[in-house]
Amino acid sequence: MGLHIWAIGAGYVGLVSGACMARLGHRVHVMDVNVDRIAMLQAGGCPLHEEGLPELLAEQRAAGRLSFHDHLPDSLADVDAVVLGVGTPQHPITGRADLTYLDAAFRDLLPRLGPDTVVITKSTVPVGTAERLAAWMARARPDLEGHTASNPEFLREGTAVADFLRPDRVVGGARTARGREVLQTLYAPMEAQGVRVFLTDTKAAELSKYASNAFLAAKIAFANDVAALAESLGADAGPALEAMGMDSRIGPQFLRPGPGYGGSCFPKDTAAMAAVGQDSGTVQYIVEAAIRGNHKAQERVAGRVADLLGPDVKGKKIAVLGLAFKPGTDDARDAPVLTIAPRWIAAGATVVGCDPAAAQTVAHLVPGLHIAPTAWDAVEGADAVVLMTEWPDYARLAPSALRARMAPHAVAADLRRAWDKNSLLAAGFDRVYRLGDGTI
Ligand code: NAD
Ligand code: UGA
Repeated sequence: MGLHIWAIGAGYVGLVSGACMARLGHRVHVMDVNVDRIAMLQAGGCPLHEEGLPELLAEQRAAGRLSFHDHLPDSLADVDAVVLGVGTPQHPITGRADLTYLDAAFRDLLPRLGPDTVVITKSTVPVGTAERLAAWMARARPDLEGHTASNPEFLREGTAVADFLRPDRVVGGARTARGREVLQTLYAPMEAQGVRVFLTDTKAAELSKYASNAFLAAKIAFANDVAALAESLGADAGPALEAMGMDSRIGPQFLRPGPGYGGSCFPKDTAAMAAVGQDSGTVQYIVEAAIRGNHKAQERVAGRVADLLGPDVKGKKIAVLGLAFKPGTDDARDAPVLTIAPRWIAAGATVVGCDPAAAQTVAHLVPGLHIAPTAWDAVEGADAVVLMTEWPDYARLAPSALRARMAPHAVAADLRRAWDKNSLLAAGFDRVYRLGDGTI
Protein backbone atom coordinates (compact mmCIF):
# COMPACT_ATOMS: atom_id res chain seq x y z
CA MET A 1 0.00 0.00 0.00
CA GLY A 2 1.28 3.43 -0.94
CA LEU A 3 1.84 6.25 1.51
CA HIS A 4 -0.34 9.33 1.89
CA ILE A 5 1.91 12.33 1.24
CA TRP A 6 1.77 16.12 1.10
CA ALA A 7 4.63 17.71 -0.85
CA ILE A 8 5.18 21.37 0.07
CA GLY A 9 6.55 23.58 -2.74
CA ALA A 10 5.87 23.00 -6.44
CA GLY A 11 9.27 24.05 -7.81
CA TYR A 12 11.91 21.90 -9.54
CA VAL A 13 12.29 19.67 -6.50
CA GLY A 14 8.81 19.72 -4.95
CA LEU A 15 6.86 19.22 -8.18
CA VAL A 16 9.20 16.64 -9.70
CA SER A 17 9.46 14.72 -6.41
CA GLY A 18 5.69 14.82 -5.91
CA ALA A 19 5.00 13.51 -9.41
CA CYS A 20 7.68 10.83 -9.12
CA MET A 21 6.47 9.71 -5.69
CA ALA A 22 3.00 9.33 -7.24
CA ARG A 23 4.62 7.22 -9.98
CA LEU A 24 6.03 5.01 -7.20
CA GLY A 25 2.44 4.31 -6.15
CA HIS A 26 1.94 6.85 -3.35
CA ARG A 27 -1.00 9.26 -3.07
CA VAL A 28 0.49 12.74 -3.33
CA HIS A 29 -0.94 16.22 -2.79
CA VAL A 30 1.38 18.99 -3.98
CA MET A 31 0.89 22.33 -2.26
CA ASP A 32 2.39 25.74 -3.09
CA VAL A 33 1.65 29.27 -1.88
CA ASN A 34 2.04 30.48 -5.48
CA VAL A 35 -1.63 30.43 -6.46
CA ASP A 36 -0.93 31.08 -10.16
CA ARG A 37 1.39 28.09 -10.33
CA ILE A 38 -1.18 25.86 -8.64
CA ALA A 39 -3.99 27.14 -10.90
CA MET A 40 -1.85 26.30 -13.92
CA LEU A 41 -1.18 22.80 -12.59
CA GLN A 42 -4.85 22.26 -11.76
CA ALA A 43 -5.71 23.28 -15.32
CA GLY A 44 -3.39 20.58 -16.66
CA GLY A 45 -0.40 22.84 -17.40
CA CYS A 46 3.25 22.45 -16.41
CA PRO A 47 5.10 25.51 -15.09
CA LEU A 48 8.62 24.11 -15.63
CA HIS A 49 10.64 23.23 -18.71
CA GLU A 50 11.65 19.71 -17.68
CA GLU A 51 11.81 16.67 -19.94
CA GLY A 52 9.06 14.12 -19.34
CA LEU A 53 7.38 16.17 -16.59
CA PRO A 54 4.20 17.24 -18.45
CA GLU A 55 3.53 13.61 -19.43
CA LEU A 56 4.20 12.36 -15.90
CA LEU A 57 1.88 14.97 -14.36
CA ALA A 58 -0.91 14.02 -16.76
CA GLU A 59 -0.38 10.29 -16.20
CA GLN A 60 -0.43 10.52 -12.40
CA ARG A 61 -3.41 12.90 -12.28
CA ALA A 62 -5.34 10.50 -14.50
CA ALA A 63 -4.39 7.65 -12.17
CA GLY A 64 -5.90 9.65 -9.29
CA ARG A 65 -2.65 9.71 -7.31
CA LEU A 66 -1.66 13.37 -7.79
CA SER A 67 -3.46 16.62 -6.96
CA PHE A 68 -2.53 20.29 -6.52
CA HIS A 69 -3.50 22.72 -3.76
CA ASP A 70 -2.85 26.33 -2.81
CA HIS A 71 -3.45 25.78 0.89
CA LEU A 72 -3.12 23.06 3.52
CA PRO A 73 -6.13 21.15 4.87
CA ASP A 74 -7.14 21.81 8.50
CA SER A 75 -5.72 18.47 9.54
CA LEU A 76 -2.89 16.31 8.28
CA ALA A 77 -3.59 13.67 10.95
CA ASP A 78 -3.98 10.82 8.46
CA VAL A 79 -0.93 11.82 6.43
CA ASP A 80 2.18 9.60 6.58
CA ALA A 81 4.71 12.11 5.29
CA VAL A 82 4.98 15.81 4.59
CA VAL A 83 7.87 16.43 2.19
CA LEU A 84 9.34 19.94 2.33
CA GLY A 85 10.69 21.10 -1.04
CA VAL A 86 10.57 24.88 -0.64
CA GLY A 87 13.47 27.12 -1.64
CA THR A 88 16.48 27.72 0.63
CA PRO A 89 18.19 30.55 -1.29
CA GLN A 90 21.46 32.20 -0.41
CA HIS A 91 21.08 34.88 2.26
CA PRO A 92 22.28 38.12 0.62
CA ILE A 93 24.33 39.21 3.64
CA THR A 94 25.54 36.09 5.46
CA GLY A 95 25.91 33.79 2.42
CA ARG A 96 24.27 31.04 4.48
CA ALA A 97 21.03 29.28 3.54
CA ASP A 98 18.02 31.52 4.07
CA LEU A 99 15.50 29.36 5.93
CA THR A 100 12.63 31.85 5.89
CA TYR A 101 10.48 29.77 3.52
CA LEU A 102 11.25 26.49 5.23
CA ASP A 103 10.43 27.84 8.67
CA ALA A 104 7.23 29.50 7.43
CA ALA A 105 6.09 26.22 5.87
CA PHE A 106 6.93 24.27 9.05
CA ARG A 107 5.08 26.82 11.22
CA ASP A 108 1.94 26.29 9.10
CA LEU A 109 2.28 22.53 9.31
CA LEU A 110 2.79 22.24 13.04
CA PRO A 111 -0.80 22.57 14.31
CA ARG A 112 -2.03 20.15 11.62
CA LEU A 113 0.35 17.23 12.12
CA GLY A 114 -0.85 13.84 13.34
CA PRO A 115 1.05 11.54 15.74
CA ASP A 116 2.41 9.39 12.92
CA THR A 117 3.16 12.12 10.37
CA VAL A 118 6.85 12.39 9.49
CA VAL A 119 8.15 15.77 8.30
CA ILE A 120 10.80 14.99 5.71
CA THR A 121 13.09 17.78 4.51
CA LYS A 122 14.02 17.40 0.85
CA SER A 123 15.20 21.01 0.46
CA THR A 124 18.95 21.50 0.91
CA VAL A 125 19.30 22.61 4.53
CA PRO A 126 22.09 23.23 7.05
CA VAL A 127 23.36 20.36 9.14
CA GLY A 128 21.22 20.15 12.26
CA THR A 129 17.96 21.29 10.64
CA ALA A 130 16.04 18.06 11.33
CA GLU A 131 17.16 18.28 14.97
CA ARG A 132 16.12 21.93 15.16
CA LEU A 133 12.67 21.23 13.68
CA ALA A 134 12.22 18.33 16.12
CA ALA A 135 13.08 20.62 19.05
CA TRP A 136 10.63 23.21 17.72
CA MET A 137 7.98 20.48 17.40
CA ALA A 138 8.63 19.37 20.97
CA ARG A 139 7.98 22.91 22.23
CA ALA A 140 4.90 23.59 20.07
CA ARG A 141 3.38 20.11 20.05
CA PRO A 142 4.54 18.17 23.12
CA ASP A 143 1.93 15.55 22.19
CA LEU A 144 4.04 14.52 19.15
CA GLU A 145 7.17 12.37 19.08
CA GLY A 146 9.46 14.53 16.93
CA HIS A 147 9.23 12.59 13.66
CA THR A 148 11.47 14.74 11.49
CA ALA A 149 13.71 13.26 8.81
CA SER A 150 16.16 14.30 6.12
CA ASN A 151 16.01 13.14 2.51
CA PRO A 152 18.32 15.33 0.40
CA GLU A 153 17.60 15.39 -3.31
CA PHE A 154 20.35 14.95 -5.90
CA LEU A 155 18.39 15.47 -9.15
CA ARG A 156 19.72 17.81 -11.85
CA GLU A 157 17.57 20.23 -13.78
CA GLY A 158 16.93 19.20 -17.36
CA THR A 159 17.03 15.50 -16.41
CA ALA A 160 15.10 15.83 -13.16
CA VAL A 161 12.49 13.11 -13.68
CA ALA A 162 15.01 10.51 -14.85
CA ASP A 163 17.42 11.48 -12.05
CA PHE A 164 14.73 11.12 -9.39
CA LEU A 165 13.55 7.73 -10.57
CA ARG A 166 16.98 6.25 -11.38
CA PRO A 167 19.45 7.86 -8.97
CA ASP A 168 22.89 6.52 -8.04
CA ARG A 169 21.53 6.34 -4.50
CA VAL A 170 18.78 7.64 -2.24
CA VAL A 171 19.99 9.15 1.03
CA GLY A 172 17.72 9.28 4.05
CA GLY A 173 18.34 10.37 7.62
CA ALA A 174 15.94 9.44 10.40
CA ARG A 175 15.69 10.33 14.09
CA THR A 176 12.90 7.91 15.03
CA ALA A 177 11.83 4.39 14.10
CA ARG A 178 8.70 5.82 12.46
CA GLY A 179 10.83 8.18 10.36
CA ARG A 180 13.00 5.29 9.20
CA GLU A 181 9.96 3.15 8.40
CA VAL A 182 8.35 5.91 6.30
CA LEU A 183 11.58 6.57 4.37
CA GLN A 184 11.94 2.84 3.69
CA THR A 185 8.32 2.50 2.50
CA LEU A 186 8.58 5.66 0.39
CA TYR A 187 11.50 4.28 -1.63
CA ALA A 188 10.71 0.53 -1.45
CA PRO A 189 9.54 0.43 -5.11
CA MET A 190 12.86 1.92 -6.23
CA GLU A 191 14.85 -0.37 -3.95
CA ALA A 192 13.04 -3.30 -5.58
CA GLN A 193 14.42 -2.05 -8.91
CA GLY A 194 17.97 -2.15 -7.57
CA VAL A 195 18.39 1.45 -6.36
CA ARG A 196 20.56 1.72 -3.24
CA VAL A 197 18.62 3.31 -0.37
CA PHE A 198 21.20 4.47 2.15
CA LEU A 199 19.73 5.27 5.55
CA THR A 200 21.76 7.09 8.17
CA ASP A 201 21.25 9.78 10.81
CA THR A 202 19.86 13.19 9.88
CA LYS A 203 23.10 15.20 10.29
CA ALA A 204 25.08 12.86 8.04
CA ALA A 205 22.31 12.98 5.42
CA GLU A 206 22.22 16.78 5.51
CA LEU A 207 26.02 17.04 5.32
CA SER A 208 26.18 14.58 2.40
CA LYS A 209 24.16 16.99 0.26
CA TYR A 210 26.41 20.03 0.80
CA ALA A 211 29.54 17.93 0.49
CA SER A 212 28.35 16.35 -2.79
CA ASN A 213 27.44 19.66 -4.43
CA ALA A 214 30.66 21.29 -3.24
CA PHE A 215 32.75 18.40 -4.52
CA LEU A 216 31.13 18.52 -7.98
CA ALA A 217 31.55 22.30 -8.09
CA ALA A 218 35.22 21.91 -7.13
CA LYS A 219 35.70 19.29 -9.85
CA ILE A 220 34.37 21.74 -12.48
CA ALA A 221 36.49 24.57 -11.05
CA PHE A 222 39.52 22.30 -11.35
CA ALA A 223 38.69 21.52 -14.99
CA ASN A 224 38.37 25.26 -15.63
CA ASP A 225 41.82 25.86 -14.13
CA VAL A 226 43.26 23.12 -16.35
CA ALA A 227 41.57 24.77 -19.35
CA ALA A 228 43.16 28.12 -18.52
CA LEU A 229 46.55 26.48 -18.05
CA ALA A 230 46.24 24.62 -21.35
CA GLU A 231 45.48 27.86 -23.16
CA SER A 232 48.55 29.58 -21.77
CA LEU A 233 50.82 26.59 -22.51
CA GLY A 234 49.58 26.03 -26.07
CA ALA A 235 47.99 22.68 -25.18
CA ASP A 236 44.45 21.37 -25.57
CA ALA A 237 42.67 20.69 -22.27
CA GLY A 238 40.01 18.51 -23.94
CA PRO A 239 42.04 15.36 -24.52
CA ALA A 240 43.99 15.99 -21.31
CA LEU A 241 40.81 16.01 -19.23
CA GLU A 242 39.45 13.06 -21.19
CA ALA A 243 42.58 11.08 -20.38
CA MET A 244 42.25 12.09 -16.73
CA GLY A 245 38.64 10.95 -16.61
CA MET A 246 39.61 7.49 -17.84
CA ASP A 247 41.11 6.83 -14.42
CA SER A 248 38.25 5.17 -12.57
CA ARG A 249 39.36 6.90 -9.36
CA ILE A 250 38.70 10.26 -11.06
CA GLY A 251 35.85 9.52 -13.49
CA PRO A 252 34.84 11.51 -16.57
CA GLN A 253 31.82 13.39 -15.19
CA PHE A 254 31.88 17.05 -14.21
CA LEU A 255 35.25 17.58 -15.85
CA ARG A 256 33.90 19.63 -18.77
CA PRO A 257 35.39 23.13 -18.72
CA GLY A 258 33.03 26.02 -19.44
CA PRO A 259 32.17 29.62 -18.59
CA GLY A 260 31.89 28.74 -14.87
CA TYR A 261 29.26 26.69 -13.09
CA GLY A 262 25.91 28.36 -12.49
CA GLY A 263 22.41 27.38 -11.50
CA SER A 264 20.29 27.59 -8.40
CA CYS A 265 22.44 25.23 -6.34
CA PHE A 266 26.22 25.05 -6.82
CA PRO A 267 26.79 28.79 -6.23
CA LYS A 268 24.48 28.98 -3.21
CA ASP A 269 25.46 25.66 -1.65
CA THR A 270 29.20 26.31 -1.95
CA ALA A 271 28.64 29.76 -0.41
CA ALA A 272 26.64 28.22 2.44
CA MET A 273 29.26 25.54 3.12
CA ALA A 274 32.06 28.11 3.10
CA ALA A 275 30.10 30.39 5.45
CA VAL A 276 29.35 27.58 7.89
CA GLY A 277 33.03 26.58 7.78
CA GLN A 278 34.07 30.13 8.64
CA ASP A 279 31.49 30.40 11.42
CA SER A 280 32.54 27.13 12.99
CA GLY A 281 36.28 27.78 12.72
CA THR A 282 36.74 24.93 10.24
CA VAL A 283 37.64 26.80 7.04
CA GLN A 284 36.61 24.89 3.90
CA TYR A 285 39.72 25.69 1.86
CA ILE A 286 38.79 23.67 -1.25
CA VAL A 287 35.27 25.07 -1.39
CA GLU A 288 36.52 28.63 -0.92
CA ALA A 289 39.02 28.11 -3.74
CA ALA A 290 36.29 26.69 -6.00
CA ILE A 291 34.13 29.77 -5.41
CA ARG A 292 37.02 32.13 -6.16
CA GLY A 293 38.06 30.06 -9.17
CA ASN A 294 34.52 30.14 -10.55
CA HIS A 295 34.34 33.94 -10.40
CA LYS A 296 37.76 34.14 -12.04
CA ALA A 297 36.72 31.67 -14.77
CA GLN A 298 33.76 33.89 -15.70
CA GLU A 299 35.93 37.00 -15.70
CA ARG A 300 38.58 35.21 -17.77
CA VAL A 301 36.27 33.97 -20.53
CA ALA A 302 34.57 37.38 -20.74
CA GLY A 303 38.05 38.84 -21.32
CA ARG A 304 39.05 36.19 -23.86
CA VAL A 305 35.99 36.95 -26.00
CA ALA A 306 36.61 40.69 -25.75
CA ASP A 307 40.27 40.15 -26.78
CA LEU A 308 39.12 38.22 -29.86
CA LEU A 309 37.29 41.31 -31.03
CA GLY A 310 40.40 43.48 -30.92
CA PRO A 311 41.48 46.36 -28.71
CA ASP A 312 37.94 47.63 -28.14
CA VAL A 313 34.50 45.98 -28.05
CA LYS A 314 32.78 49.38 -28.23
CA GLY A 315 30.24 49.41 -31.05
CA LYS A 316 30.67 45.68 -31.75
CA LYS A 317 27.73 43.31 -31.88
CA ILE A 318 28.08 40.08 -29.86
CA ALA A 319 25.57 37.26 -30.42
CA VAL A 320 25.20 34.94 -27.42
CA LEU A 321 23.70 31.52 -28.13
CA GLY A 322 22.22 30.02 -24.94
CA LEU A 323 21.32 31.93 -21.80
CA ALA A 324 20.07 29.26 -19.36
CA PHE A 325 22.73 27.99 -16.92
CA LYS A 326 22.68 24.64 -18.73
CA PRO A 327 20.69 23.05 -21.56
CA GLY A 328 17.28 21.50 -20.98
CA THR A 329 16.03 24.02 -18.43
CA ASP A 330 14.35 27.43 -18.36
CA ASP A 331 16.18 28.23 -15.11
CA ALA A 332 18.57 31.17 -15.30
CA ARG A 333 19.45 31.50 -11.62
CA ASP A 334 23.17 32.37 -11.39
CA ALA A 335 23.63 31.58 -15.09
CA PRO A 336 27.16 32.57 -16.23
CA VAL A 337 25.68 34.97 -18.81
CA LEU A 338 24.34 37.13 -15.96
CA THR A 339 27.87 38.17 -15.00
CA ILE A 340 29.54 37.86 -18.41
CA ALA A 341 27.15 39.80 -20.68
CA PRO A 342 27.05 42.93 -18.44
CA ARG A 343 30.85 43.25 -18.83
CA TRP A 344 30.53 43.47 -22.61
CA ILE A 345 27.52 45.78 -22.39
CA ALA A 346 29.40 48.07 -19.96
CA ALA A 347 32.31 48.18 -22.44
CA GLY A 348 29.97 49.48 -25.15
CA ALA A 349 29.09 46.31 -27.08
CA THR A 350 25.60 45.50 -28.33
CA VAL A 351 24.78 42.05 -26.94
CA VAL A 352 22.01 39.99 -28.50
CA GLY A 353 21.06 36.68 -26.87
CA CYS A 354 18.76 33.82 -27.69
CA ASP A 355 17.62 30.76 -25.79
CA PRO A 356 14.90 28.16 -26.41
CA ALA A 357 13.54 28.41 -22.85
CA ALA A 358 15.18 31.08 -20.68
CA ALA A 359 15.27 34.15 -22.97
CA GLN A 360 12.57 36.21 -21.29
CA THR A 361 13.83 35.48 -17.78
CA VAL A 362 17.36 36.54 -18.67
CA ALA A 363 16.10 39.63 -20.52
CA HIS A 364 14.64 40.83 -17.21
CA LEU A 365 17.86 40.14 -15.33
CA VAL A 366 20.41 41.79 -17.67
CA PRO A 367 19.66 45.44 -18.40
CA GLY A 368 20.57 46.34 -21.98
CA LEU A 369 20.55 42.76 -23.28
CA HIS A 370 18.66 42.37 -26.55
CA ILE A 371 16.78 39.16 -27.25
CA ALA A 372 16.47 37.56 -30.68
CA PRO A 373 13.86 34.90 -31.47
CA THR A 374 16.34 32.50 -33.08
CA ALA A 375 20.09 31.95 -33.37
CA TRP A 376 19.89 33.06 -37.00
CA ASP A 377 18.38 36.40 -35.97
CA ALA A 378 20.94 36.81 -33.19
CA VAL A 379 23.98 36.39 -35.46
CA GLU A 380 22.66 38.62 -38.27
CA GLY A 381 25.41 41.20 -38.87
CA ALA A 382 27.18 40.24 -35.60
CA ASP A 383 30.93 40.66 -35.09
CA ALA A 384 31.16 37.72 -32.69
CA VAL A 385 29.16 34.57 -32.02
CA VAL A 386 29.53 33.04 -28.56
CA LEU A 387 28.25 29.59 -27.68
CA MET A 388 27.37 30.08 -24.00
CA THR A 389 24.99 27.14 -23.37
CA GLU A 390 25.32 23.90 -25.32
CA TRP A 391 21.65 23.40 -26.25
CA PRO A 392 21.73 20.57 -28.85
CA ASP A 393 20.09 22.85 -31.46
CA TYR A 394 22.94 25.36 -31.08
CA ALA A 395 25.68 22.73 -30.93
CA ARG A 396 24.39 21.38 -34.27
CA LEU A 397 24.48 24.71 -36.12
CA ALA A 398 26.81 24.67 -39.11
CA PRO A 399 29.61 27.25 -38.56
CA SER A 400 29.61 28.12 -42.27
CA ALA A 401 25.90 29.00 -42.16
CA LEU A 402 26.48 31.20 -39.10
CA ARG A 403 29.51 32.85 -40.66
CA ALA A 404 27.54 33.68 -43.82
CA ARG A 405 25.13 35.89 -41.84
CA MET A 406 27.76 37.75 -39.86
CA ALA A 407 29.88 40.89 -40.31
CA PRO A 408 33.01 40.83 -42.55
CA HIS A 409 35.64 40.24 -39.84
CA ALA A 410 33.51 38.06 -37.58
CA VAL A 411 35.00 35.90 -34.81
CA ALA A 412 33.66 32.81 -33.00
CA ALA A 413 33.95 31.72 -29.36
CA ASP A 414 32.95 28.23 -28.27
CA LEU A 415 32.75 28.31 -24.47
CA ARG A 416 31.41 24.74 -24.26
CA ARG A 417 33.69 22.95 -26.71
CA ALA A 418 30.59 21.75 -28.54
CA TRP A 419 31.53 22.93 -32.04
CA ASP A 420 34.08 21.30 -34.33
CA LYS A 421 37.27 23.33 -34.34
CA ASN A 422 38.19 22.55 -37.95
CA SER A 423 34.72 23.48 -39.20
CA LEU A 424 34.98 26.80 -37.36
CA LEU A 425 38.35 27.50 -38.95
CA ALA A 426 37.17 26.36 -42.39
CA ALA A 427 34.07 28.57 -42.15
CA GLY A 428 36.33 31.60 -42.48
CA PHE A 429 36.00 33.24 -39.09
CA ASP A 430 38.81 35.76 -38.68
CA ARG A 431 39.64 34.39 -35.24
CA VAL A 432 38.38 31.41 -33.28
CA TYR A 433 38.44 30.79 -29.52
CA ARG A 434 37.62 27.31 -28.26
CA LEU A 435 37.72 27.27 -24.47
CA GLY A 436 40.69 25.31 -23.15
CA ASP A 437 42.30 24.89 -26.57
CA GLY A 438 45.63 26.69 -26.71
CA THR A 439 46.57 25.03 -29.98
CA ILE A 440 44.37 27.36 -32.06
P1 NAD B 1 12.01 26.62 -6.55
O1 NAD B 1 12.30 28.05 -6.29
O2 NAD B 1 11.92 26.13 -7.94
O3 NAD B 1 10.64 26.22 -5.84
C1 NAD B 1 10.33 26.50 -4.50
C2 NAD B 1 8.81 26.60 -4.40
O4 NAD B 1 8.45 26.66 -3.01
C3 NAD B 1 8.22 27.84 -5.05
O5 NAD B 1 7.26 27.47 -6.04
C4 NAD B 1 7.60 28.62 -3.89
O6 NAD B 1 6.41 29.32 -4.25
C5 NAD B 1 7.30 27.50 -2.91
N1 NAD B 1 7.11 27.94 -1.52
C6 NAD B 1 7.80 28.87 -0.83
N2 NAD B 1 7.31 28.96 0.43
C7 NAD B 1 6.30 28.07 0.52
C8 NAD B 1 5.42 27.68 1.59
N3 NAD B 1 5.48 28.24 2.79
N4 NAD B 1 4.49 26.72 1.33
C9 NAD B 1 4.41 26.16 0.10
N5 NAD B 1 5.21 26.48 -0.92
C10 NAD B 1 6.15 27.42 -0.71
O7 NAD B 1 13.11 25.82 -5.74
P2 NAD B 1 13.84 24.45 -6.15
O8 NAD B 1 14.83 24.71 -7.22
O9 NAD B 1 12.80 23.41 -6.34
O10 NAD B 1 14.67 24.14 -4.82
C11 NAD B 1 14.00 23.76 -3.64
C12 NAD B 1 15.02 23.18 -2.67
O11 NAD B 1 15.57 21.98 -3.23
C13 NAD B 1 16.23 24.07 -2.39
O12 NAD B 1 16.64 23.85 -1.07
C14 NAD B 1 17.29 23.55 -3.35
O13 NAD B 1 18.60 23.79 -2.89
C15 NAD B 1 17.00 22.08 -3.34
N6 NAD B 1 17.40 21.36 -4.55
C16 NAD B 1 17.15 21.90 -5.78
C17 NAD B 1 17.51 21.20 -6.93
C18 NAD B 1 17.28 21.78 -8.30
O14 NAD B 1 17.75 21.18 -9.26
N7 NAD B 1 16.61 22.90 -8.46
C19 NAD B 1 18.09 19.93 -6.81
C20 NAD B 1 18.30 19.39 -5.54
C21 NAD B 1 17.95 20.13 -4.40
C1 UGA C 1 23.38 20.18 -9.48
C2 UGA C 1 23.84 18.77 -9.13
O1 UGA C 1 24.40 18.13 -10.28
C3 UGA C 1 22.67 17.93 -8.62
O2 UGA C 1 23.13 16.65 -8.19
C4 UGA C 1 22.04 18.65 -7.43
O3 UGA C 1 20.90 17.94 -6.96
C5 UGA C 1 21.62 20.04 -7.85
O4 UGA C 1 22.77 20.76 -8.35
C6 UGA C 1 21.07 20.81 -6.71
O5 UGA C 1 21.42 20.60 -5.57
O6 UGA C 1 20.25 21.66 -7.05
P1 UGA C 1 22.11 21.30 -11.55
O7 UGA C 1 22.51 22.57 -10.91
O8 UGA C 1 20.72 21.11 -11.99
O9 UGA C 1 22.45 20.07 -10.57
O10 UGA C 1 22.99 21.09 -12.87
P2 UGA C 1 24.43 20.47 -13.19
O11 UGA C 1 24.27 19.55 -14.32
O12 UGA C 1 25.12 19.94 -11.99
O13 UGA C 1 25.21 21.75 -13.71
C7 UGA C 1 25.54 22.82 -12.84
C8 UGA C 1 26.45 23.81 -13.55
O14 UGA C 1 27.73 23.23 -13.77
C9 UGA C 1 25.95 24.24 -14.94
O15 UGA C 1 26.20 25.62 -15.11
C10 UGA C 1 26.78 23.41 -15.91
O16 UGA C 1 26.95 24.01 -17.16
C11 UGA C 1 28.10 23.35 -15.13
N1 UGA C 1 28.92 22.18 -15.51
C12 UGA C 1 28.51 20.93 -15.23
C13 UGA C 1 30.16 22.40 -16.12
O17 UGA C 1 30.56 23.56 -16.37
N2 UGA C 1 30.94 21.32 -16.41
C14 UGA C 1 30.55 20.03 -16.14
O18 UGA C 1 31.32 19.10 -16.44
C15 UGA C 1 29.30 19.84 -15.54
